Amino acid sequence: KRVAILISGRGSNMVSLIEAATQDGYPAEVVVVGSNRPDAPGLEKASQAGLETFTLDHKTFGKDREAFDTALSTKLKQHKVDLVVLAGFMRLLTRGFTEEWAGRMINIHPALLPSFPGLNTHERALEAGVKLHGATVHFVTSDMDAGPIIMQGAVPVLDEDTPETLGARVLDVEHQIYPEALALVAADRTRIEGQRVTIIGSDD
Ligand code: GRF
Repeated sequence: KRVAILISGRGSNMVSLIEAATQDGYPAEVVVVGSNRPDAPGLEKASQAGLETFTLDHKTFGKDREAFDTALSTKLKQHKVDLVVLAGFMRLLTRGFTEEWAGRMINIHPALLPSFPGLNTHERALEAGVKLHGATVHFVTSDMDAGPIIMQGAVPVLDEDTPETLGARVLDVEHQIYPEALALVAADRTRIEGQRVTIIGSDD
């Protein structure tokens, strides 16, 4: 499967996906990395890895989300992309875009959904006093951080944690589960039934 990774920032999840995709037998190939921010540090890392990149600066589209999303879809189709992988892509997508890519677009969120959708998840997990926190890979739907869950990874919350130390522990788990989850989707091993994703087939 041909994969586009969309980023807005440093791109550490992108790097873990690019590395995984170079492994023998990995069912997805990263064909392009796109950013809505020209200054995203991840773009440089993608180029260093020999990948094609593009920037679609959302600021040049003003408030017109439809126009941005239409341009984005056009870019993805130019690259004959099968799957869209959001990796720290900080843009809300229109209903039209999410419907066009339904079942073919995934995201990683730094919390155990449905707890803590949205921003500042590590601060909020500490404030809420949860003892387990983590990360979730899910299919993207028009409702933010609410699509069918493919995979989750949990970490303990320690008494001495700050948002930074907790976030670093979660990020390690993100880097493990995102390549695993993408492999399942790319190998057509996921079935979506309502909010539920079941995994079919075996690893051997
Ligand atoms: C990650 O925490 C991811 O879960 C969230 O945004 C962050 C992106 O980090 N969606 P990076 O750009 O992959 O380093």
